[in-house]
Amino acid sequence: MIKLVLFIFTFTLFFSCNNSKEEIVVEKKEVIYDMYQPSEMANLMNEMYAQNLQIKEDILEGKIPTVFPLDFLKIHTAELSDFKSRNETFQSFSKLFIESEKEIFNSNSQIPVKERFNTMVNLCISCHQTECTGPITRIQKLLIK
Ligand code: HEC
Repeated sequence: MIKLVLFIFTFTLFFSCNNSKEEIVVEKKEVIYDMYQPSEMANLMNEMYAQNLQIKEDILEGKIPTVFPLDFLKIHTAELSDFKSRNETFQSFSKLFIESEKEIFNSNSQIPVKERFNTMVNLCISCHQTECTGPITRIQKLLIK
């Protein structure tokens, strides 16, 4: 039981970027099950990670991605964890990110699709440098070498 709790605890630390949550959780280990509720934004981020991983694999196999995942537009509205706010920096990074993601699907582009994909990944990283540094190493794995 304790092990499972510790595991969930570690998981929470690893994947979320709220450092203050760490202290709260340490004091109230018994109620840990109620404490980690991923926000709508956190769920969206995980989905964006998974879908972009699929897009990366397609590109590596020589398939040209054709359909922009409309779900990603939720980045403009999805609810954030309590400790975060949607400030101007966040909004401008959201816009740039969506534009760069759309570029991947622009069949008229002169830029190689690999490069367009990496530009998008670098925007994930740029926003994370200002907002939430925790997942950056994981995001870097999306880059096409
Ligand atoms: C506009 C800023 C911004 C962009 C762009 C962005 N993120 Fe995030 N990301 C955040 C914020 C803020 C959170 C924390 C969300 C929360 O806890 O409510 C987050 C959380 C995450 C998480 C952790 C989710 C969890 O379970 O706690 C992952 C993984 C992630 N992002 C991956 C990505 C990937 C992959 C991309 C690009 C495809 C991306 N992010 C683009 C701001 C951004």
